[in-house]
Amino acid sequence: MPLINIIPGDKIPVAPMNVRLPAWRIPGWLLVFWWLARGLFRLVVLAVRYWWISVPTVLALWTRAEFGGRVLAAVTLGLAAVCLCWWRLHPVSWLRFGWYPIVSRVRAAVVYRRRWASVMSTCGLATVFAGDRYVPRLLKVRCDRFGDEVTVRMLPGQIPDDWGQTAERLAYAFRLRTGQARSTDRPDRVVVRFQRRDPLAGVVAPLPVAEVPDLDGLALGVGEDGQPYRLRLAGSHVLIAGATGAGKGSVLWSLIRSLAGGIRSGLVELWAFDPKGGMELAAGVPLFARFAYDDPDSMAGVLDEAVKRMRLRAARLRGVTRQHVPTVDEPLIVLVIDELAALTAYITDRKVRDRIKESLGLLLSQGRAVGVHVVAALQDPRKDVLPFRDLFPTRIGLRLTEPEQVDMVLGDAARDRGALCDRIPESAPGVGFVVLDGVREPVRVRFAYLTDDDIRHLGRTYRRLDDTDQQEVTA
Ligand SMILES: Nc1ncnc2c1ncn2[C@@H]1O[C@H](COP(=O)(O)OP(=O)(O)OP(=O)(O)O)[C@@H](O)[C@H]1O
Ligand SMILES: [Mg+2]
Repeated sequence: MPLINIIPGDKIPVAPMNVRLPAWRIPGWLLVFWWLARGLFRLVVLAVRYWWISVPTVLALWTRAEFGGRVLAAVTLGLAAVCLCWWRLHPVSWLRFGWYPIVSRVRAAVVYRRRWASVMSTCGLATVFAGDRYVPRLLKVRCDRFGDEVTVRMLPGQIPDDWGQTAERLAYAFRLRTGQARSTDRPDRVVVRFQRRDPLAGVVAPLPVAEVPDLDGLALGVGEDGQPYRLRLAGSHVLIAGATGAGKGSVLWSLIRSLAGGIRSGLVELWAFDPKGGMELAAGVPLFARFAYDDPDSMAGVLDEAVKRMRLRAARLRGVTRQHVPTVDEPLIVLVIDELAALTAYITDRKVRDRIKESLGLLLSQGRAVGVHVVAALQDPRKDVLPFRDLFPTRIGLRLTEPEQVDMVLGDAARDRGALCDRIPESAPGVGFVVLDGVREPVRVRFAYLTDDDIRHLGRTYRRLDDTDQQEVTA
């Protein structure tokens, strides 16, 4: 057998490989049949998916063919008249069951489904795996007066926070401005709410005062659903943060107003601290059991007194109950502080400052169970104030100047979850996001605005009984 000598540098001869693909011959009629069948199947799918268009169209065509164009026009006019009457007679049910279901379907088809796949890709929510493209599935669109709620089945590996971070991008992609994602009870789904109109654009008038305040739900303003927003004070402290002019005063006054019935009957005692010289709270003096302003030493003294009251009460309640229930003898004590930083950071006398900090720390950590609550406003979310932040189970962020301040005051990832306090315009004072301990999504609220006259009227109408009156009531 001859041996081939391969000398380095020589080219190895390569035999050409002969590959021939098998050829399938399909008759032309089969191809046409396949195309027609596929087209028909797609048409049926579309007709079923958009039944709200196909069914009326078929009915209209049938009516016209059976009874003529005049009957069709008469039926159409009759239907329009029925809708008009429904709207005039009962607009709420017409909007809920008639109008918005139509708007939802039209917007789902025209705005969302049409661009869904491309928007998912450009916003980074679609993915490619093993050569296949996966797009989250759009399940439902529900529109109301102010926005659209889009329910989506997420891809494996996605969490609602991913959608929260992209919500604004999505909103712009669908030609809107604001989007907010929230989780649902099903772990594979997320709801993204896109806002078309701001439900909180108008000023909210003071809300009615309840004679006995409901501490589990004090009405302070209006939520995005147009219903009164109720805040739980029982077992909580409230921190309100906002830039200057953000409307911190309106939150404080709304809260004071919601407690006014209890102030008059003696169930609630308000202790007011206004370190900015009494400018904000002075008009409510008749409502306050204590009013401290200006002088840091006197404010430290009043705080010490509050701590003493708290300790005495704790000693009395120990072993009797675990949660204080307000009575005229043992009223709920609410400390309202207009500028927390003025007590904890701006005071130059270090001794007084430390005394105040110590008292505040004690009140915040031990007051809730014995009916001593702190409601504090804060303009400047700096480090000195932050140690107290986590002691406030309820935090409210009004307009803030920097995006970083949002998480600083409201807690980690609050901004990603939708608390866009830095985006609240200056033209919307009193709008803010409420974050509650243990609740993931912030709630957007507009707090009621009390004019100076409202405050004076409140002071006159619900002034607290002085001590002699109190004794008579107790007797
Ligand atoms: N809820 C509200 N609705 C409508 N307007 C409001 C509301 N709250 C405040 N405003 C308007 O904004 C102005 C500033 O509000 P406010 O004094 O409460 O701000 P602030 O946050 O307390 O500011 P500062 O830190 O300077 O005290 C008010 O004079 C009022 O005109
Ligand atoms: Mg103020």
